[in-house]
Formats: sequence, C-alpha cells, structure tokens
Amino acid sequence: MSVPGPAPRGRLPLGLRRDPVAWERQKPTWRQAKPSTIEAALKRALTRPSGNWFVVAASRDITADRPLGRTVSGTELVLWRTADGRIVAGPGACPHLGAPLKDSPVRCGTLICHWHGLALDGGAHAGWEPVPVHDDGVLVWVRLDTVGGEESLDAPVVPTRPDPAAALDAVYTGFGTCEPQDVIANRLDPWHGAWFHPYSFVDLTVNRAPEEDEEDEEGFVVDVSFKLAGRVVVPVRAVFTAPEPRTVAMHITEGEGEGSVVETHATPVGLDPRGRPRTAVVEAVVCASERPGFAAARAAAPLMRPLVRAAAGRLWRDDLAYAERRWALRASGRFPG
Ligand code: FES
Ligand SMILES: [Fe+2]
Repeated sequence: MSVPGPAPRGRLPLGLRRDPVAWERQKPTWRQAKPSTIEAALKRALTRPSGNWFVVAASRDITADRPLGRTVSGTELVLWRTADGRIVAGPGACPHLGAPLKDSPVRCGTLICHWHGLALDGGAHAGWEPVPVHDDGVLVWVRLDTVGGEESLDAPVVPTRPDPAAALDAVYTGFGTCEPQDVIANRLDPWHGAWFHPYSFVDLTVNRAPEEDEEDEEGFVVDVSFKLAGRVVVPVRAVFTAPEPRTVAMHITEGEGEGSVVETHATPVGLDPRGRPRTAVVEAVVCASERPGFAAARAAAPLMRPLVRAAAGRLWRDDLAYAERRWALRASGRFPG
C-alpha cells in the first residue's frame, strides 16, 4: 500500500462539509478491507507480549470507600485503595468461607469481610495473597500469570499518551459475548468506520494498511472526519496500532486533538451460564489539545466525561455487535475466509 502524503484537508481544525455524499453513495470499502490483511494484523497483535497484564478498570473508579469486583478469565478479583492511596488487588473470595469481598466495606484502607470480620490491609494474610497491580494514571492493570501463561513483564505495555498534566481522559466499559480477539479484529478493520458508524464518521480513507508479512508495526493510517453536528466535521489523521495482544491504540497524528489517543482494551471475563465467552471492553480516550478553550474543558472534565463516554458507548453498541457476530460465526465454523 502507498505511504501517505500530508493530510489532504490541511490543518484546519474544523470544517464544513460542502457537498455531503449520501450514505449509500460513498465509496464501498470492501475490496480494500481484505479479510487476509485484517487477519494478518490480528495474528501479529496476538503474538506480541502482554507480560500477563490485563486492564480491569479506570483508575478513578477505584475509590477509598468501597471495593470494586472484577473477573478476568474466570478469576474473581477485588480491588480497593489503601489508606495511602495505593491500589491493591487480589482474590475476590474471602479465604475463610468464600464471602464475595466486593460486597465488603473498606474502613481506613482496610477491607473487612462482612461475614466474619477478616481484615485485609493489602498484604498477604490468612491465605489471601495480593496480585501485582499497575496504575498508569488512567487505567488499572493486574498481572495474572496463571491466566496469561506468558513470560511475565514487570509492567504492562501502555500505549504512548499525551502529557497527563495537559490531558483530559474518559473511560468507557462495556461487555460482549465474544473473545478479546473479536474486539481487536473489529478495531483492526478501520474500513467499516463511515459505513457502519455514519452518525460519527464521514469521508474515511485508509491511506495505508500494513503488508501481510510486515514485521515492524506501523499500523493503519486513516484520514477521517468526525461529525460534530449537522455538517460541521473535524478532519483528522489517525494511526491504528496494536501494541500488545489485547490493545488497539488510535493516535490522532494530525488535525484537531493531535496527540490524543483512543485506547481499546479487551479483557476476557470468563464463560456465561451457556458456556459462551464474555469480554470486557475498556476504552480510554485521552485527549490533548493546543486550542485555547481546552484548559476550560479540562476544568469542566467532570461534566465532559459523561459526554465522551456516551459517544464511545454509542459506537461500542455497534462495534460489540460486530465482535459478537464475528465470534458467533467463528464458533459455528461459518467465519468467511
Ligand atoms: S467468610 Fe470472610 S471472614 Fe468468614
Ligand atoms: Fe467501529
């Protein structure tokens, strides 16, 4: 595929679409979106090391007053903050008689089992052992060596992000009936954007897709306009890469919000009662901007976060349907290709 030149729409942050093309009259992308290209990119992603780290939650969702329960590949976990603000994670079942520790209270950083009062301060105690935790400032990762089965790494592979001091972040979490690879495959198909999400994207062109035998990962280079309202659009250039097997990062490299990143993390949850896999999608949007109004936007972050999350939620309703469909076809041996 050709190497992209400068973004065609220049550096104008906002644009007005003069000649909107009807949805059904845009250029079909299916010939370019070769199943073998997507599968090759997925295969490369799946062979990258994760060090057995799994994203479990947004950092800000772990508070000092109550614990959070999560399940990773059938392993029940509880997370909370100790008195000094540190996040701890460990088995979600009490070592005494198995109470669900996610329902226990935290008092001054100590989690106290509500069945018989066993107190956990984050250190190993009475058969309960913490697992390694990494708080990257936006997301919390846990390392589960028995679940991952890879060689462990000291820290997870966190995508490059804008300077946190000048950034605004929001995290969306959703769940689907599929495996993590189905979520990753959806994100490694940038061609579906303007067709499948016409309410959010227009004028999408994939300028570069990785060669099927490409060793280094330069990713997919996509020019696309985000729809703001009516005919007002934000043209950007975005680069999609998969830094590890359960993450796809979309970096905005030109246009409004240059330096921002949308990270999609897929974490296996376990099997549902019918034996089907469940996957959590944790998507972090970390926005950077040089525009003057951005400092004000940061100050308004608590107000803006739900808006950013709602936008991600709408996209993910559709993208989870895509991922679930891919899993259903794979599970029944009907996946094309
Ligand atoms: S089950 Fe937790 S203390 Fe008994
Ligand atoms: Fe999508």
